[in-house]
Parts: sequence; C-alpha cells; structure tokens
Amino acid sequence: MSQFSSVIPNIHSFLHGADYNPEQWLDRPDILEQDVQLMKDSHCNVMSVGIFSWAALEPKEGEFHFEWLDGVLDRLAKNGISVFLATPSGARPAWLSQRYPDVLRVDKNRVKQLHGERHNHCYNSPNYLNKVGIINQKLAERYSHHPAVIGWHISNEYGGECHCETCQSHFREWLKARYGTLDNLNQQWWTAFWSHTFSDWSQIESPSPKGENSLHGLNLDWKRYRTECVVAFCQHEIEPLKARNPDLPVITNFMEYFYDYDYWKLKDVIDVVSWDNYPLWHRDADELELASYTAMYHDLMRTMKQQPFLLMESTPSQTNWQPITKLKKNGMHILSSLQAVAHGSDSVQYFQWRKSRGSVEKFHGAVIDHVGHADTRTGREVTKLGEQLAAISDVCGSRTQSQVAIVFDWDSRWTMDDASGPRNQGLYYEQVVSEHYRGFWEQGINCDIIEQLSDFTPYKVVVAPMLYLIKPGVAERLESFVKSGGVLVATYWTGIVNETDLCFLGGFPGGSDSPLRRTFGIWAEEIDSLYDDERVDCQTISGNVLNLQADYKAKHLCEHLHLETAQAVASYQSDLFEGTPCLTVNQHGQGCAYYVAARHDVEFYREFYRQLVAVHGVITPLNNLPLGISVTTREQGDKEYLFIMNFLNSAQNVELNKQTYYDLINKHAITDGVLELNPYEVAILAKDKM
Ligand code: GLA
Ligand code: ZN
Repeated sequence: MSQFSSVIPNIHSFLHGADYNPEQWLDRPDILEQDVQLMKDSHCNVMSVGIFSWAALEPKEGEFHFEWLDGVLDRLAKNGISVFLATPSGARPAWLSQRYPDVLRVDKNRVKQLHGERHNHCYNSPNYLNKVGIINQKLAERYSHHPAVIGWHISNEYGGECHCETCQSHFREWLKARYGTLDNLNQQWWTAFWSHTFSDWSQIESPSPKGENSLHGLNLDWKRYRTECVVAFCQHEIEPLKARNPDLPVITNFMEYFYDYDYWKLKDVIDVVSWDNYPLWHRDADELELASYTAMYHDLMRTMKQQPFLLMESTPSQTNWQPITKLKKNGMHILSSLQAVAHGSDSVQYFQWRKSRGSVEKFHGAVIDHVGHADTRTGREVTKLGEQLAAISDVCGSRTQSQVAIVFDWDSRWTMDDASGPRNQGLYYEQVVSEHYRGFWEQGINCDIIEQLSDFTPYKVVVAPMLYLIKPGVAERLESFVKSGGVLVATYWTGIVNETDLCFLGGFPGGSDSPLRRTFGIWAEEIDSLYDDERVDCQTISGNVLNLQADYKAKHLCEHLHLETAQAVASYQSDLFEGTPCLTVNQHGQGCAYYVAARHDVEFYREFYRQLVAVHGVITPLNNLPLGISVTTREQGDKEYLFIMNFLNSAQNVELNKQTYYDLINKHAITDGVLELNPYEVAILAKDKM
C-alpha cells in the first residue's frame, strides 16, 4: 500500500465518476437500475449525488422525502460505488422563495431577482440560513454514517453577491469592526476626493453600478466583504454536518481564478479543494497556451491546501454553454483528464453521469447519452480512462514538490482592474501571470501558485508578476526571502498601492525606504502605456548575468527605471526611454531580485526562464523537452512518477534520462532512454528517487 492514500480518507485508488442526478429519473426505476451496471462497466467508482435535489427532498415546507435517496445510496453502496453527498443549497424549491422572499438576491441595481435559475440566494438571509441549516441537519442525521458516503459536496459553485438591506447593514458592521472610527475609514478610503466624506455610517452603501470607479477603497472592501459572506455561509452549512461526523471531509467546487471571491479565504473552511474544469480545447490552432493555462489552474487548486485536490467536474465530451460546443478529438479526453492527475488531482469526475431529457442541460455532454448505453465514442474513452486510472492507483495520494512559486493575487487583480489607468484597454493580469508560468511549464518544472500571504521560504524561485497591492509585512518577507538566498522576479506595476488602495509615497516600488526598493535596487519613475500595435525595441547587454542573447520587443506597458544598486540586464533601444534599463538584477544578501520593466511576447519569457533555471540551478526532470510536451512529477515514498503529456496532434519523441523507468499504463520497462508518444498521448512512468 502507498505511503499516502487518496486525499479522501479510506480511499486507496483514484476516484472516477460524475454528478449523478437521479431525482430527474424517479419515474424510471428501470433506468436507475441500469445506471449502476453502466457505472461499473465504465469503471466509475464515485458519484456526486443530490446537488440539485432540494425540491425532491422537501417538496413542501417541513415535509421530507428521503426514501428515494435511501434507495439510490443503498444501491450504490451495494455495488461498491462511493458518494459525495451534496447539500442542496445551490438551488431551492419554489415554495421557499414564495414564502420567504428575503432569500431572493438583490442585484447591484437594487432590483430583487425573481425565483428561478440557481446559485442566486442572499448569503445573509435569515430564512435561507435557517432552511439550509434544517435540510443539512436532516441529511447529516440520516447519511453521515452511510456506507456509500465518503464526503460532503457543499452546495455548488458558490458565486455572486447580494445588495439587499440585510447585506448592506452587515457590510456597515463589518466596516465598523475593520476601521473603528469613521474618521479612519474616511482617511483610508481617501474620501476627501470629490467630497465623498461620510459623516454617518448609515451613508455607506455597497458600490452602485454607476459609481464603481470613484471610491476604490469602498470597492475593494466590498469585494473582501462578499468573500467573507460566502465563507460564513459555507461555515454555516458545514456546522451540522461536522456535528454528526467530524471525519467526513467537506468539499466545495471552485472555478479557475474565479473573480467574485478570494479562494484563499474560502479554502480555509473546507477540507479538500475541488474544481470544475472546462477548457475550450481545439479552439486555437496552437493549443499550448490553453494547455499551460489549464495546468496553472490545477496547480492553484493543489497549492491552496498543499495536498492533492479533486477534479470535481469536467465534460466527458462537450459542454452546451460555450460559444461553440466542440467535441474533444480522440485522445483529448484522456489527455486532459490525466493532466489534472499530473498536477495533483486524486480524481477525474464529470458533469454529468446521464444526460438530462429536458431543460437547459439536455444537450450538455454526459457519460450516458440519450441513447442509454456507454458503447459510444465518449463512453469508450471514459471506460478506457477508468482502466488507466486503476492501473496507476499507486500514484493516488502522492505529493508534488515545487521549487518554484508564482504569485496570483486576488486583491492586486481587483484593484488594478478598478483603477483608471495606466492602460484601460487591458493590463491582462491573468494572462501575464500565465505567461510567466508558461516559462516553467515548457521546461517541465512543477510550480506552486501562491498568494502574497503565503510562505515564500520553501521555494528557490518566487515570481510575482504585477504585484500592485502590497499588504503589510509582505515587502519585508520578500526582502528576507532574497537575502537568505532566494531568487525573486517581479515586473512593472509592482508595489504601487497599500492594502486600502492608497498609493505609496516617495517612489515605487513600495515607497521611500521600502524593503522593495532595496530588494530590487531600482526606482520606477513612470510608466508608459502603448497602443496595441506599438512595440519598443529592447536589447540585452553583453556579458549579462543570465547570458541572454536575443533582442526583444516590449508591448503594452513600459516602465522608466533608475538603477540604485541594481545592474541592467537589458535596455530599451527605441522610443521615450531609449538607453535606460528594461530588465535589471540586484544582488541582495545571498540571493537576487530581477525586475522586468515591460511586457513582452512569449519568446522573451521562454528564453528568460530557460536561462534563469540554468543559472540558478533549478532542477528539471528531463532535458531537451520538445515544445508541446508537458512534464510534471508526483512523489510517493522512494518513487517518483513522471507524467509526460503530448499536447500536439502529432507524434513526438522524448529523450529520457539514462535510467530505468517503468511505464505504468503499458506495463513495461523503458531502458533505452527514448519515449515515443502518439498525438495527445500521456505516459506515466515510475522511477526510483535518486
Ligand atoms: C457547472 C455546474 C454544473 C453544470 C456544469 C455544466 O460546472 O456546476 O451543475 O451546470 O457547469 O458545464
Ligand atoms: Zn442580501
């Protein structure tokens, strides 16, 4: 048995399954019966049940019907299929909205929403909190020790915000606790601007749709507050569940770099992170950008709790809500599913098991299509993946070691977006982070995706693109990371504002006497914004520490730097800042800090990170990786597992190191140092750790 088993207690192999919505088929017991055999045939061993079952569980207020769910769970248990049992708060019965209208959300135009859709309740509604508490408690009483149930699926894809009176008054209380006095709040929010000074707490309201750009401190705090609302709601959901069985893990499903909430706060109240992954495969001729982007999201999910995550949803074939509902080409389903595993998932799960007959998701991909069996192109790929997951079960629970961390920061993102200037046409924060990430992804180097409050000390390299907002203590921690030998990379638009969105005074990054100024050894005087098609020439300086050779173009944003203790690695060769540095390095203590003053194309990041990795001795699992091949590693005891993925629609040869590998899927040893991969093929190799 492995040293770690799955991230889900008492599970020893990969979970493979789907959202299962039997409440849509209660008048078809024959279909419910068939489902279980089909699940077994397609090597599915887990189902998420009850996500949208509230109306079937409590058809009238206080009248509960659990018999059908008993039947479903008992049948699954009897057949060895595990269950993530959901709390049903994602959508509510009509009687609830009708009888208790305070559960309905008020949008930012202050318009109360009608009943319908889903994921649209007020998180502070006393009646919703009460009713959710009751149904969750009933579910917990009945099923917390059911043999099928291995965890709780809390609600579904929490999202959005509410502007009702209850939420407004909670917001004011939250602000009082945060700022103490109105004078302090006025100062921190810079309300003297345009005469926005508040003279009474009751004058403060959530951002209005028109005034979103005026008080940045208010906008930022509102976003922080809505995260706190969802955290409190989630905690309220969890309480009755943990009271009955504290050992059952609670999980909720996240979505990428979701805009509405700071996931670093929400992850604290759950046991296991999971997420719903729907990349637009086959949209672009070059899929590598998307492959690397998706990899980065997986890495975030793993990093948040520094343990494996779950791929809670993905489509087995196509979605129905993207602009083009494209099918996955042969092989892509297995590749994209194993990509999640490669980056630390202990499951591959789908939306959904059986395709709905009616309503909005009747054309969304499912394992079992309307035809009613799994002998389909999709069904066969799902089955084959199930077999492969079984073949690699030793890998389940194994951990990912990363020498490199990339910072993705919700507060910086929100405040940069809110700011007017320096480039309202697009700062592209998420994309910039992903471009830096790709520099490592192409070399097969594991990366953690951290936030600015994360511990930097476990890493050799920390990359913090556009870390615009700096929270207290972060500049000091970055400095000490560098001083004790770390390699730090930052970019233009770093250290501009403090945690209430007030600009630092005395020179960027970070202001006068800031540890950031010392760490980077520069002063960033001003930033120029370029039109989309403008480019500025950049030239590397001969003999530079990274041995960078090529010349580059800068685009979108160029900062004007002055060297203090840093050295120039490259300089602008045209336009306004000609002759001044555009890339610098500062030796500081035992380490060094690079500052990339402009945005570049992918070729720059490719060469920059290739050289940085070589010069600073970051370990790469394989050398000479062809472009389009992605490699990650997971570790378990004395074994290292390599996932080698071909994201190209053509066969590739990959040079292995000179040692013996064991191919876990095809079950043979590889000793000749070469791996041949078919289009979209994945190899999973085990080797002894050195
Ligand atoms: C989301 C939801 C699911 C389903 C899928 C469809 O991820 O959580 O209930 O609607 O989208 O892609
Ligand atoms: Zn509300």
